[in-house]
Amino acid sequence: MTNATTVTLQSGSTMPLTGLGLWKVPRDVAADQVYSAIAAGYRLLDGAADYANERECGAGVARAIGQGLVTREELFIVSKLWNTNHAAKHVEPACRKSLADWGLDYFDLYLIHMPIPLAYVDPAVREHPGWTNDKGETQTERSPIHATWGAMETCHAKGLARNIGVSNFCSALIVDLMCYANVHPQVLQIEMHPYFVQQGMIDVCKAYGIHLMAYSSFGPASWVELDHPATKTLPSLLTLEAITAMAKTHNATPAQVLLRWATQRGITVIPKSSNPARLKENLANTDLTLSDDEMSTITGLDKNFRIAAGGDPRINIWA
Ligand SMILES: NC(=O)c1ccc[n+]([C@@H]2O[C@H](COP(=O)([O-])OP(=O)(O)OC[C@H]3O[C@@H](n4cnc5c(N)ncnc54)[C@H](OP(=O)(O)O)[C@@H]3O)[C@@H](O)[C@H]2O)c1
Repeated sequence: MTNATTVTLQSGSTMPLTGLGLWKVPRDVAADQVYSAIAAGYRLLDGAADYANERECGAGVARAIGQGLVTREELFIVSKLWNTNHAAKHVEPACRKSLADWGLDYFDLYLIHMPIPLAYVDPAVREHPGWTNDKGETQTERSPIHATWGAMETCHAKGLARNIGVSNFCSALIVDLMCYANVHPQVLQIEMHPYFVQQGMIDVCKAYGIHLMAYSSFGPASWVELDHPATKTLPSLLTLEAITAMAKTHNATPAQVLLRWATQRGITVIPKSSNPARLKENLANTDLTLSDDEMSTITGLDKNFRIAAGGDPRINIWA
């Protein structure tokens, strides 16, 4: 049996079901890691301006293309609009800057990173401002999402982004977006793992024909290095008996079981790994077929626990 490794978006674009996440990939190793991932067979790369490594990731892509490993058309490259660029007039310049950093002339997918408009910071002054202004304060700005989306549509119309979408939107914002979007949002990227199943959100996206891309598929694993409080209370999914037993049954790894739980339902995953063996292992998750009972057992681990929560109350979109 051959299991699908790609999905067709509503736009007709083909996107891999497994990609490489680029958050927290340090600049000094990003080019090599992207190159190695492409050499290992990865075709989907999930980047963002906020990850502050787009130039280096682009260098890895350029090396892979230059050496004939892959063509640009075979890759599916994602970037995201950072919160400080939500004002309509800043969207296209931000998209063009990310493209220039990657050394590309189009993205396959450009996402609004978060529904959080922060005060503009000139990239010439501070290239990666993160969450704060020059005074170290979190400062919001009055940029409504419909105006940001309109500017995203302009990026699409100009061919800078073949597909556009959103990330970290709740269902109410999706329903609202569908009231004014002239260009269909192709993808919603959200936190999703067995401790945070979000069946309701899956149903909403299905109803609107929006494809889901899951982040933090291993649950707390990615947040340990950030010393996130959730990692003190949530047991690791990678060592959980229910998952390790299933992995043993399938002669697979716990990571593959966790990824397959998503891809078997047609949800794209973008695990990040700096380890060459794990890169291959993660990509091969689609070789596995979990039984209906196994899928239900994993879904039954749900705690409705969002890890990427909290923050300054003025921008706590999950409150
Ligand atoms: N839109 C958003 O707001 C948002 C938020 C978070 C993440 N994302 C995207 O989603 C991507 C993935 O999410 P994530 O970075 O949170 O975490 P993740 O992929 O769930 O987990 C990464 C962690 O798991 C480890 N790991 C990877 N493969 C493994 C394996 N086969 N076995 C055991 N451990 C393994 C990695 O360590 P090693 O590197 O040592 O292998 C790393 O510590 C990000 O890189 C980013 O592109 C988007």
